[in-house]
Amino acid sequence: MAFGVIERARKVFPASELGPTAREDLVALDEATFSFEEGEFVSLLGPSGCGKTTLLRIVAGLISKTAGRVSVAGREVDGPYGDYGFVFQAPGLMPWRSVMDNVLFPMEVLHRSDAKARKRAGELLSLVGLSGFENSRPHQLSGGMQQRVSLCRALIHAPKLLLMDEPFGALDELTRLDMNDLLLEVRRETGAAVLFVTHSISEAVYLADKVLVFSRRPARVACQIEPALGRDRKRHMRYESAFQAAEREASIALGVITEETGALLAKKETLQ
Ligand SMILES: Nc1ncnc2c1ncn2[C@@H]1O[C@H](COP(=O)(O)OP(=O)(O)O)[C@@H](O)[C@H]1O
Ligand SMILES: [Mg+2]
Repeated sequence: MAFGVIERARKVFPASELGPTAREDLVALDEATFSFEEGEFVSLLGPSGCGKTTLLRIVAGLISKTAGRVSVAGREVDGPYGDYGFVFQAPGLMPWRSVMDNVLFPMEVLHRSDAKARKRAGELLSLVGLSGFENSRPHQLSGGMQQRVSLCRALIHAPKLLLMDEPFGALDELTRLDMNDLLLEVRRETGAAVLFVTHSISEAVYLADKVLVFSRRPARVACQIEPALGRDRKRHMRYESAFQAAEREASIALGVITEETGALLAKKETLQ
């Protein structure tokens, strides 16, 4: 069985919970089905409001599903569990704590904040280029640096699964490119599987073994793309035809360009 299995997951927010003016239930997810392997990197693309965050929260056991099956590492998810890390768009660091103490926070909650954990925190911070900042406070760091701290915090308990919800959405383009490469390196070192929600088609393609494109709400998997780029990604690949082919396919599935336009572009490329 695959490491992660999401089978016909459905989520309905009942009208009674949506506020006084809501008349109808809101179906956020419907029959969402996909699976992923240990260590696999899966990008999730889809229109805003289609249900991506809802899906991640269900996989994390933070909210319940209305129907369907979700299992991670052979265990049915029916409530919060420990073996994942979550990175949100906002770093969400505690301003009064040092960088080191922010990274160690989950270990404190787990009563495992010992010398070994501190050593691992140091290793992770060094892996993301933050050696020397252990005693800094979050406000002394740039947005990209803060997000790197939050990545270390998500990985400190060595989870097998990393859930990331538009983690680089607030960063400028160049910082984002750096963060993409850094994330691939971190993933190599930790071996964690990653479910990565993004609005950026090129980021989705660059990072993923598998790109899932979701439909408009209620979200279903409309298309699955496996970029023919091999496991080792290098920046120049962003300009190669295999990369552009995957981007094109995702753009068509998202309705950014039509199938006809996509076919024309592909033809033009083969003529070059
Ligand atoms: N806790 C909630 N209660 C009611 N509706 C919600 C809740 N969370 C999300 N929704 C609704 O579910 C839909 C999907 O939301 P979300 O998963 O955040 O989309 P995405 O992350 O793809 O932008 C939206 O219409 C949103 O308003
Ligand atoms: Mg979202």
